[in-house]
Amino acid sequence: MSIDRVFVIGAGLMGHGIAQVSAAAGKRVTLSDRTAELADKGKARIGSNLKRQVDKGKLEQSAADEILERISTGEGADGAAGHDIVIEAVFEDESVKRQTWEALTKSADADAIFASNTSSISITGLATATDRAPRFIGLHFFSPVPVMGLIEIIRGLETDDETYDACRTFAEELGKTVIESKDYPGFLVNRMLGPFINEAVFALMESTGTAEDIDTGAKLGLNHPMGPLELSDFIGNDVMLGVMDVLYRGFGDPKFRAAPLLRQMVTAGHLGRKTGRGFYTYDETGKKVE
Ligand SMILES: NC(=O)c1ccc[n+]([C@@H]2O[C@H](COP(=O)([O-])OP(=O)(O)OC[C@H]3O[C@@H](n4cnc5c(N)ncnc54)[C@H](O)[C@@H]3O)[C@@H](O)[C@H]2O)c1
Repeated sequence: MSIDRVFVIGAGLMGHGIAQVSAAAGKRVTLSDRTAELADKGKARIGSNLKRQVDKGKLEQSAADEILERISTGEGADGAAGHDIVIEAVFEDESVKRQTWEALTKSADADAIFASNTSSISITGLATATDRAPRFIGLHFFSPVPVMGLIEIIRGLETDDETYDACRTFAEELGKTVIESKDYPGFLVNRMLGPFINEAVFALMESTGTAEDIDTGAKLGLNHPMGPLELSDFIGNDVMLGVMDVLYRGFGDPKFRAAPLLRQMVTAGHLGRKTGRGFYTYDETGKKVE
């Protein structure tokens, strides 16, 4: 089966990006959120992204217009009928996601594929909120979606081959490279990233080195574009703590215990760039303050 009509629910950071790359690949897209205003805001963000590309000479104005014309907006799960795939990018909260999937099960076509962009919640578990575990899958995009070249596809315990193959083709049509993961905590990428960042926080907590030296070590010694502490600030220290807690609970292995300093920083509200303070300090534009 081919995927041509895409329903994206959750028009935030990830959802608007997923809608943008889908429309840029020629798909017809409906972008939905809790309210029509939030969905329109998501579409407006796409408009600004495209305008930046036009201003830089990377995209023709006519192509930008066509991409925007392929995107309509909606409210809630109601408009999901008539789409080949529903991609869910609502808050990373299991009960919110389950409620959303229950509503989508009622409104979407019976043969539509259901895909969650969750970073950490079990695909096999979310599928039980729907009537279609064989057609339920994880499509894990990375931020910023138009820039990052990877999609991690997660097969739930019951995901069938037809669904996997259709999603793989869809991801490739969006110009992304696919990696496939079984449905274990953290999938592949966050399972590697979480302990890496967490170990850097332990090193800082134990005064093995300064934050600057830890990050410089990763950048120049490992050729990473960002150090682990600045990356944690960028992603959100609360999000990284969530990843560690999922790994710790899911595997029951003490090697995944979150660094106490990471938990303490989240408790204090030092979430990183978004709150202006994390391992570093940031101004209101998100720029690091020396
Ligand atoms: N931020 C990242 O770097 C990143 C990367 C990969 C995956 N993810 C995952 O993507 C998902 C979305 O994350 P985000 O960063 O875009 O969050 P976000 O907060 O920017 O956006 C979430 C959007 O979902 C909407 N929403 C919440 N409940 C809803 C409901 N019941 N019905 C319709 N819309 C609803 C919100 O209004 C909001 O616009 C999460 O599962 C997250 O784990 C995030």
